[in-house]
Amino acid sequence: MLTDPAGLTGLTTRAAALDAADPLAAVRDRFLLPDGVVYLDGNSLGALPAAVPAAVEDAVHRQWGTDLIRSWNANGWWEAPVRTGDAIGRLVGAAPGQTVAGDSTSVQLFNTLLAAARLRPGRRLLLTDPDHFPTDQYIADSVGRLLGLDVRRVPARDAAAVLAAEAGNVAVAAYAPVDYRTGELYDMAALTAAAHAAGALMHWDLCHAAGALPVGLDAVQADFAVGCGYKYLSGGPGAPAFAYVAHRHQEGFDHPLTGWHGHAEPFAMAGTYTPAADITRARIGTPALLSLIALEAALTAFDGVEMAAVRTKSLSLTGFFQECADLLLDGLGFTAATPRDPERRGSQVALRHPEAYPLVAALTARGVIGDMRAPDLLRFGFNALYVTHADVLRAVAELRDIAASGAHLAPAFQQRPTVT
Ligand SMILES: Cc1ncc(COP(=O)(O)O)c(C=O)c1O
Repeated sequence: MLTDPAGLTGLTTRAAALDAADPLAAVRDRFLLPDGVVYLDGNSLGALPAAVPAAVEDAVHRQWGTDLIRSWNANGWWEAPVRTGDAIGRLVGAAPGQTVAGDSTSVQLFNTLLAAARLRPGRRLLLTDPDHFPTDQYIADSVGRLLGLDVRRVPARDAAAVLAAEAGNVAVAAYAPVDYRTGELYDMAALTAAAHAAGALMHWDLCHAAGALPVGLDAVQADFAVGCGYKYLSGGPGAPAFAYVAHRHQEGFDHPLTGWHGHAEPFAMAGTYTPAADITRARIGTPALLSLIALEAALTAFDGVEMAAVRTKSLSLTGFFQECADLLLDGLGFTAATPRDPERRGSQVALRHPEAYPLVAALTARGVIGDMRAPDLLRFGFNALYVTHADVLRAVAELRDIAASGAHLAPAFQQRPTVT
């Protein structure tokens, strides 16, 4: 039973009013969510879109089982990476012909980051964020070792100043618009402009931005970008990632993973690599078709949905979460880790608490799913396509009840599994 602290009734009324006025409310039906579950972990693994099971069934039984190898031509398998890439491009502000889907974020990151650095020969520095997701830092280091570059870790908020001070030395600045831990949002246009003013190229990791908020890749004149398909795009576990190569760099795109699908004439079976002239150069090898088909079907959940509307609702959800947390979690040991300013907030809210793990485990046991990042962050992601304000209130109210009652101190919630 939830306690009824002052304010809860008012919050319940507000949540109902906000949900009743939500122009995206009907989009929730495009997802298959389990009854009774509040799902606030779509920033790790998006919920299952209703269009996916039938698409995968068709891909397995008809396309693979019946049409067999003919599917490459008859069922559009060959074009799937670019077709799906363009569908993602629409969500991240990329005009057609600049985005390709396939492989993992780590692979796409390696391929595009190294190619970007090759476009700035003679420059010795690669800038990245000490708070960047680990794979981004590891791959930046690897690219640095391969090309003989110094990798300097500069926080996003200081990057423009370092770019100005090191103008002429920086080859690439590799950042994420949204901090994966705190949800802090950075100004993509300003940082891209600072990189260009220094003669450097700008590489963005959009894992926590694609499908979560408007990203104007073309508008900000980004050079390269990557992102994953399994978070806000809801493409499924291990869904293919995507890579964006701006039109102006495609001709000079000298990437290390010169797989045969990027060849100008893949079926000429030539013994040496002649790169395709367009974005198909960024293809690598045979894509994981079943996953790609699932991702393509998942993206139909965005049909007719403008990213501006997603952003409006996302800010309403995250703002409401912060408001509920202020009222209901006061005095229970939580501190806010996510900026209050909507302009500086992505689509997640993180709270700090010394008992973050058991609190998240106890919440999960009550059907409220978020996650934690060591050592002390509770993370809640808000996919505006399927999360409601009522979900937000229930999550915070349950968290209050757990923290106030000490329910999370039970031994069952102390053991950490491999994946947190
Ligand atoms: C910013 C960022 N980059 C990359 C990844 C993961 O890369 P991969 O899809 O290769 O596991 C994540 C995963 O959470 C991430 O948050």
